[in-house]
Amino acid sequence: MTKTLLATLAAVLLAIFAPSVLADPIVIKFAHVVTDDTPKGRGALLFQKLVEERLAGKVKVEVYPNSSLVGDANELEALRTGKVQMLAPSVSKLNALSKPLQVYDLPYLFDSLEAVKRFQHRDKSRELLGSLVTHGFTGLAYWNNGGRQLSATRDIRSPADLKGLTVRVESSDVLAAYYQLLGAQPVKMPFAQVYEALRTGKVQGAENPWSNLLGQKINTVQPYIVEDNHSFLTYMLITNTSFWNSLPFELRSELEAILDEVTQVVNRDAEAINAKARERVVAANTSKILVQTPAEREVWRAAVAPLIKRYESEVGSDVLRAAEAANRR
Ligand code: LMR
Repeated sequence: MTKTLLATLAAVLLAIFAPSVLADPIVIKFAHVVTDDTPKGRGALLFQKLVEERLAGKVKVEVYPNSSLVGDANELEALRTGKVQMLAPSVSKLNALSKPLQVYDLPYLFDSLEAVKRFQHRDKSRELLGSLVTHGFTGLAYWNNGGRQLSATRDIRSPADLKGLTVRVESSDVLAAYYQLLGAQPVKMPFAQVYEALRTGKVQGAENPWSNLLGQKINTVQPYIVEDNHSFLTYMLITNTSFWNSLPFELRSELEAILDEVTQVVNRDAEAINAKARERVVAANTSKILVQTPAEREVWRAAVAPLIKRYESEVGSDVLRAAEAANRR
């Protein structure tokens, strides 16, 4: 009798505990398009490391850099269908799904990366993390890269110098409209193709923060770089809403806590990573670097004012005003 009771008890305990002990860990495939040595690349690896340390056996993060699993053209579809569980695209690539996110691409709107960071902490920007939910995506955090610098086959000092230049842009109508307004020809193209397009002369210019410039060796095919910080490359860390909501509450909370930690590190270190990348580009001596002066900045700002006005209704006056206010603290 005791034996039978013990056997039954053992069977019951096994039935309760065995699945959780033996279950495979939940896999989070995190794909991105840049190198490991960029703010986003490092952030993805730090997330992987912290999850390994704290949630071993329960969650496993796999990182796929350099468009090695999916690239710009198919990553959102991959997130929708469950081929990947996490992405951190530039918000420029999400503009088509959420018009207010265009605010981040408006040229000469933010004065500095600090202003962008302040805006990201304000309610208007926090709300935009939820703006993709109707498409099945949940925004988890903003990660920063850095100021976009304009590189080209020729020296660009004033807006008029852009005339006729073919420039690669991300899949953002605002970015395209910026170059169109100034007489250039924007060409939307996935990130993985940029170096080759510049090398072969398919396009003559591009816009990238220093870390991406260096990571893709863009300086080796662009003799001129204008350090103009005309906008700031911002990422939204996104996941599939159904996947995220299907996670056990405690696990999700632990992942959110880890992501908060990682986000702080990414946004703390982004500027230094870009400064280091800039030093390396300078040391490589491949390109003439022109630093835009405050007076030149005012000329460019005046030239793009009509664009800001044109996009105000799509972005929303409230969002635009909140972004402008972040320049003033
Ligand atoms: C680009 O396409 O230029 C960037 O969004 C790439 C990236 O992820 O930094």
